[in-house]
Amino acid sequence: MNHKDFFTSVGGLRMPPIIYGTAWKKERTAALVEQAIGLGFRGIDTACQPKHYHEAGVGDGISNACQRYGIDRAELYLQSKFTPLNGQDPERVPYNPNAGLSEQVAQSFLTSLKNLKTPYLDGLLLHSPLANPKHTLEVWQAMELIFHSGKVKQLGISNCYDLKQFEFLHQNAEIKPAVIQNRFYADTQYDRHLRDFCREHRIIYQSFWTLTANPHILAHATLQALAAKYQRNPAQLFFRYLNHIGILPLTGTTSASHMREDLAIFDFELTAEDCDSIDRLL
Ligand SMILES: NC(=O)c1ccc[n+]([C@@H]2O[C@H](COP(=O)([O-])OP(=O)(O)OC[C@H]3O[C@@H](n4cnc5c(N)ncnc54)[C@H](OP(=O)(O)O)[C@@H]3O)[C@@H](O)[C@H]2O)c1
Repeated sequence: MNHKDFFTSVGGLRMPPIIYGTAWKKERTAALVEQAIGLGFRGIDTACQPKHYHEAGVGDGISNACQRYGIDRAELYLQSKFTPLNGQDPERVPYNPNAGLSEQVAQSFLTSLKNLKTPYLDGLLLHSPLANPKHTLEVWQAMELIFHSGKVKQLGISNCYDLKQFEFLHQNAEIKPAVIQNRFYADTQYDRHLRDFCREHRIIYQSFWTLTANPHILAHATLQALAAKYQRNPAQLFFRYLNHIGILPLTGTTSASHMREDLAIFDFELTAEDCDSIDRLL
């Protein structure tokens, strides 16, 4: 991964152009994270949400990889999330569910630091907006307190598909969102308007479900022809195209060969014309 490919957010933080996602890996989490870092991933996404993420396993994988490959924590971009109560398994809530929202955020963050064995995070994301915008702001303000303490370098939000809702947060936040992480799919017209807003405000748009939600694009004759032209596979073409249009994709692959392929997208460039032809598929 070449440093010229890194993304820089509005706060000036540099992020690797592809991030390894750690959802649904359960007991394989530590080994897969260690493998991903060993192969070259420098960005890791997780969440304080035991229902889908084994965050302590992520912490084990990171510390094992750092030791084994002589990597410094500062070389990694590490991002976790505060998941509101409605996204948690009621049997395994990683904070006191009866505490106020601000306290829930503080407790969740401390759990993340402990799980990840780190004194700071690079990014803290609100996993999804709350039903009441006032509550979303209350949570955001609790995240801002953590930002001011210096223990997180930037803030973001996920699963926010309504431009008005995102603008409301952006307008009312003292510390502006630096990242939005969304499902990249046709149902939301691929967040075109949101992405325009992000471009204007230098907010990094991270995509998930990028391959899973788009088999029709990967199988499309245009992408197949480009894959043949560049001698890469359709997933590589699509990820590289996303980078070229300013999107930072997540990959949660469990396969070493897919990890290698995903990291190998930085040794080729698409022409503007070819990007335009992929753009027309969205
Ligand atoms: N904010 C949120 O609410 C939210 C929601 C979902 C996910 N996420 C984040 O995004 C990460 C990625 O999740 P995802 O939903 O995008 O799906 P994913 O976990 O990356 O799964 C991608 C699927 O595509 C397959 N695949 C085939 N070729 C591939 C290739 N070249 N590279 C990568 N995968 C390939 C994978 O199979 P193999 O395993 O066999 O490669 C896997 O079945 C998660 O781990 C999590 O960190 C966030």
